[in-house]
Amino acid sequence: MVDYLLDQGYENISVLDISANALARAKKRLGEKAEKVTWIEDNITVFEPKEKYDIWHDRAVFHSLTTVDDIKAHQRLVAQAVNKYMIIGTFSINGLIKCSGLEIKQNDESSLVNTFGKKFNKIECFTENHTTPFYTTQNFIFCTFAKK
Ligand SMILES: C[S@@+](CC[C@H](N)C(=O)[O-])C[C@H]1O[C@@H](n2cnc3c(N)ncnc32)[C@H](O)[C@@H]1O
Repeated sequence: MVDYLLDQGYENISVLDISANALARAKKRLGEKAEKVTWIEDNITVFEPKEKYDIWHDRAVFHSLTTVDDIKAHQRLVAQAVNKYMIIGTFSINGLIKCSGLEIKQNDESSLVNTFGKKFNKIECFTENHTTPFYTTQNFIFCTFAKK
């Protein structure tokens, strides 16, 4: 996604992932353009943001938080760090129950609204079949929220 945002002229983009390898691959793919991005290697459940973000886009990270404590930490983080809009994309209730051998938590519209509804108004939710690079299909739900 960061590639497309840069190509369209967006600025002040940050990319967070717990995996140094994942960040390194994305940086390599972007080449010189990677210098325009703030790269953050951190666990989303303990990340302490130094700034606020107008748009927060989480694809396939939130569903890897499976404990009440981790989900609460994420709720607190986005309540504090997001100024305007948040998009959360997770495996749907028709999606996978494990990813890369790890447990995940499936979501539907009501679970996402229950989780984030105190601080965010839902704009829209939709499900989508994602075709992986290995030609398997994963059903996702994406919900867009506006900060209250
Ligand atoms: C399926 S990949 C999605 C990567 C990217 N968001 C995308 O849409 O292409 C899931 C990513 O979540 C990262 N991840 C898992 N748990 C995390 C956590 N607690 N904090 C930050 N990143 C995490 C993994 O390292 C992995 O790169």
